[in-house]
Amino acid sequence: MRASAVAHPNVALIKYWGKRAAAGNLPATGSLSVTLGGMQTQTTVQFSAGLAADEVSLNGVVDAGASARVTTCLDMLRADAGTQLRARVESWNDFPTGAGLASSASGFAALALAGAAALGLEPEPSRLQEVARVGSGSAPRSLFGGFVQLRNQGEGTVCEPLLGPAEWPVSVVVAITRLEAKETGSRPGMRLSEATSPCYPVWVETHEADIQRALQCIAERDFTGLAEVSEHSCLKMHAVMMTSRPPLMYWSPATLACILAIQALRAEGVPVFFTVDAGPQIKAVCLSEASGRVEQVLSAIPGVLRTVSSPLGEAARVTQRDA
Ligand code: PMV
Repeated sequence: MRASAVAHPNVALIKYWGKRAAAGNLPATGSLSVTLGGMQTQTTVQFSAGLAADEVSLNGVVDAGASARVTTCLDMLRADAGTQLRARVESWNDFPTGAGLASSASGFAALALAGAAALGLEPEPSRLQEVARVGSGSAPRSLFGGFVQLRNQGEGTVCEPLLGPAEWPVSVVVAITRLEAKETGSRPGMRLSEATSPCYPVWVETHEADIQRALQCIAERDFTGLAEVSEHSCLKMHAVMMTSRPPLMYWSPATLACILAIQALRAEGVPVFFTVDAGPQIKAVCLSEASGRVEQVLSAIPGVLRTVSSPLGEAARVTQRDA
């Protein structure tokens, strides 16, 4: 009743920010992402009779904050398996946690996979995605490799891979500008934006056009077109965040310095664009041949603590399963 799984974080090129329903953690819009092979979460789940409650540790430290969400996901798997057994969950990230690097996405993707495997379940892909999504809205995307689309469908969501990691050699250079966890998590942040940003309705209304444009660019391997629509989606989401009341300011001065440097590189002909999530880190998406130059430029910017370069990664997978 013990299994381990590995999942990679993902970065959305066309973002989601806001929910259509809190129940089931359903996003207001779809989204489109790339999975990062250079960073990973490894999670082990062990169900056992001796436990009174689920126990969760993250990077070796007991994590009381994450426990409620973990228990909600495990409850779904326990219902499917017809068991009441509680579990010990140990999760390790090889990258900074809770600072806008999508640690919750890889964490809940790995949890769903390892939890199901530990219980001997073989869930339908849609059920696995639902369990991951209840933990984190971006987690179903981390179940897949390469370019991934998440769509709203009926009462739920569907997630599917668009291109495998080898089909378009793209890399992501992450410039880390702050290591501490963010002040406002994405869930309360989204609620605030839904309720207070005058830009929120426009964000939702114009979203599908951005998805369609990005799908076309990916199908045609049109990097310049993908750069334009991805940066637009990112800045539109941050416009929603910044016009919330009180404002959600996730950037640091170095975030903006990196954005300007990336725009200057692209004007010189370097195939790179930026994206930023609910945190101060910059993700520079580039054709893989440009990643050395991008890393060199970003790492020289004052306020950039370090850079991590990553090719696109594979789907999440079970790595060990004990009866
Ligand atoms: O559902 P969460 O908590 O993983 O929120 C993800 C929010 C963004 O990273 C800002 C956008 C996205 O689509 O990943």
